[in-house]
Amino acid sequence: KTPIPKTKGFDKTKALIQEGFHFLPSHREELQSDIFKTRIAGQKTICMAGEEAAEVFYDNDKFKRKGAIPKPLRMTLTGEGAIHGMDGEAHKQRKRMFLSMMTPERLEDMKKFVVEELDTKSAQWESRDKVILFDEMEEILTRAACRWAGVPLSEGEVQQRTKELSAMVDSFGGTPQQYKDGRKARKSQEKWLADYIKQIRKGKVEVPAYTPAYIVAHHVEANGKKLDTKTAAVSLNNAFRPLLAAVHFITFGAMAIHQNPEIEEKLRKDKNNYSQWFTQEVRRYFPFAPAMGAKVKNDFHWHGQDFKKNTLVILDLFGTNRHPDSWEKADEFIPERFKDWKESPFAFVPFGGGDHHIGHRCAGEWMTVMVMRAVFQYLTNKITYRVPEQNLEYDLRRMPTMPKSGFVMTEVKKVESSE
Ligand code: HEM
Repeated sequence: KTPIPKTKGFDKTKALIQEGFHFLPSHREELQSDIFKTRIAGQKTICMAGEEAAEVFYDNDKFKRKGAIPKPLRMTLTGEGAIHGMDGEAHKQRKRMFLSMMTPERLEDMKKFVVEELDTKSAQWESRDKVILFDEMEEILTRAACRWAGVPLSEGEVQQRTKELSAMVDSFGGTPQQYKDGRKARKSQEKWLADYIKQIRKGKVEVPAYTPAYIVAHHVEANGKKLDTKTAAVSLNNAFRPLLAAVHFITFGAMAIHQNPEIEEKLRKDKNNYSQWFTQEVRRYFPFAPAMGAKVKNDFHWHGQDFKKNTLVILDLFGTNRHPDSWEKADEFIPERFKDWKESPFAFVPFGGGDHHIGHRCAGEWMTVMVMRAVFQYLTNKITYRVPEQNLEYDLRRMPTMPKSGFVMTEVKKVESSE
């Protein structure tokens, strides 16, 4: 058997943070292998990429999450006691809670809220010299997400909460500044949401039973108990905070529309689900979540290699989305590829792979796709704008990344409705 190649030198945590989206692909290239050994966070680590690797990674018999999420990420991005680090029955039970929030009606609600907020904002954009789409979308999605989650947000609070949610999403890049901002934001959000949960439980506020706020406040765990207030606050935050991540994809999508007039035309007509293919291709092609980690549950062999219990294994999500074995012309942006796509749950993993109910795949995937699609439809059909000279490059060493200018729009006008 061929041994798995190893990276040279010592612990690679720093290199991973500094090289960002380049880290995994460049080592795969250098070592000429989709699987390699390294050291991350002081631990022996196996990194792997591709559809087959993803299938193994999302096998609950082979992998667990306990101890796999690094502490700095728990302190900023996910929160302590979050679903991301749970296993087995406890995970399934908690996952059912999240998925019960995602009924078709509720997904439609979120889409409606986003379009309403966009409508209010775009009316204001008309009288402004320029608008930075990234910043505007952060506020729009904060307003819509809180409304959807049943979390009241006063006008005076909008800026603060937007900034916090944004800092939490940004924190996974792992630099000291990102950590500091993310940590501060998390503390503030947890306090805010814990106080609110207490009020709901005391019956001081009434909140509709279909909202995440209600669902989390009254959820009962396998042990027959309600979530403690802190875990409830963490969970409620995890039921809407991640929507802010969509801002990155929306900004990339706006850039793709701008750079390809043909795509813009097709989106405007939106025949045969084109906006759906476009949305999927934005999620496949542009970088957001670089990788996921899990630990080996019990020793097993795969591809002639030993996976020893408790070894940290990292799946290259971005590299899998662009893997040449699964995707033709993987490094080109081609929305039409989704026309006859075979729906592999392991080749297309921007939000994780496998099954939403059984595994850790993102609970908010359907919602995000709907929201992104609605925003792209809005940008092409409900407003017109100019895109002045600006720096649209994005740095793959930064995590998360986005076009540098944030996508500046000028001369925004609403399209007169023909209804
Ligand atoms: C998990 C990405 C939006 C809720 C995840 C995971 C990824 C991801 C990569 C981890 C998968 C794994 O552990 O293997 C994204 C991206 C988003 C997004 C890129 C938007 C651009 C959302 C939204 C929500 C959400 C809008 C909720 C409203 C969750 C939850 C989990 C999760 C609850 C944990 C699932 C579990 O551990 O079982 N997401 N997500 N996400 N996401 Fe998302």
